[in-house]
Amino acid sequence: MVALQGYGWLPDQRRRSRDGVVQARVLGQRAVGLCGPDAARFFYDENNVTRRTAIPEPVQSTLFGHGAVHTLDGEAHRVRKTMFMTLLTGPGVAGLVEQAEAAWDDAVASWSPGQRVVLFDEASRVITRAVCRWAGLPLEDTEVPEVAARLVALVDGFATAGPRHWRARRARAGLERRIAKLIDQVRSGAAAAPPESALATIAEHRDASGEPLDSRVAAVEVLNVIRPTVAVCWFVAYSAHAMHLWPEHREALQARRPGYAEAFTHEVRRFYPFAPFIGGRAVRDLTWQGQPIPSGTLVLLDLYGQNHDNLLWPDPYRFAPERFLDRHIGAYDLVPQGGGDPRTGHRCPGEQITIALLEALVPRLADLDYDVPAQDLEISLQRVPARPASGVVIVPATTPS
Ligand code: HEM
Repeated sequence: MVALQGYGWLPDQRRRSRDGVVQARVLGQRAVGLCGPDAARFFYDENNVTRRTAIPEPVQSTLFGHGAVHTLDGEAHRVRKTMFMTLLTGPGVAGLVEQAEAAWDDAVASWSPGQRVVLFDEASRVITRAVCRWAGLPLEDTEVPEVAARLVALVDGFATAGPRHWRARRARAGLERRIAKLIDQVRSGAAAAPPESALATIAEHRDASGEPLDSRVAAVEVLNVIRPTVAVCWFVAYSAHAMHLWPEHREALQARRPGYAEAFTHEVRRFYPFAPFIGGRAVRDLTWQGQPIPSGTLVLLDLYGQNHDNLLWPDPYRFAPERFLDRHIGAYDLVPQGGGDPRTGHRCPGEQITIALLEALVPRLADLDYDVPAQDLEISLQRVPARPASGVVIVPATTPS
């Protein structure tokens, strides 16, 4: 799989190309790789690029699920997307943040001085507990570690052909079965879903056709709320990594410098590797930068490359949250979670949640008294998705109050 070649693949090809347009073959298909705000605008124009047939089966069977919003176009997409936007933006977000803060505080209170805490794993459990409660999914505390591990597996295994991939497929099959059963029970009245929760909203949702979602597709969409929320643990671990390497930023967070937590969050999402690129298919014969793109060509937008483009981000390999203080961010500039308008296009509807969770948890982490023992903090750009090798181990120094 092409993602095996890592985050440098499209940027390397682009540097070698004549005009910044990468011509490649992906899984035997003709592909072009584009990068930059103008390219993003071109990519997100539905008259140019559609999604329906662009997402490979291994990615649907792990990361997104079959029948997910990611694979819809036009009216069907807009109706489903409105449901996500209603759930994931606005007043509901505060409730999730409160749950995450409470789960974090409980976790910290349970640590003992000298204990080794793998921050990546701990953050995944904290967020799993919080998001399941918020979404209305019943989950015993004893089940949290296993469910968190499965949700992480879905993300961890989408871009590899090895055991991580098969773990992800198994995790998805089990989770979908369990949630589809719950959806059936909610619909029949055998289980209760809190009003306006993600569970209730998705169980009641009617698609563009006016029909309720098939219970398996409903389960896919419930997972498309909780799985990426848990993936914010990647950014929590990356935040700890940044604070360890460049402690001046930790001090700025501790001092609660106005606007700094938000700027830090944007820089973590820009600087650290997560989604390498996104793909769609040319709906008709297109031309970009003078290059023909025949109808049906796979069109890839290089998210990682754009987040490290020195025309947009001077000194792009320096971790510098200050670049976001007082900077207006255009809809097609910062693209760790896609670009454009999330209400009408495929841009991630969970950006507000991602930012709110990090703005709540990262200053809490900055305030903690802990040591960082010797460990392998390397982040390999060959591994997709990347992550710090050790998961970022911290050792609490004193008993938290
Ligand atoms: C779409 C990244 C968090 C739900 C996307 C896309 C990316 C992305 C790159 C594809 C955009 C496109 O195809 O144009 C991330 C990252 C996250 C994150 C790096 C941080 C961990 C979230 C959260 C939620 C969420 C917290 C929900 C609570 C979704 C959904 C879509 C999506 C439903 C599909 C949107 C569509 O196709 O219209 N995300 N996301 N994501 N994300 Fe996120």
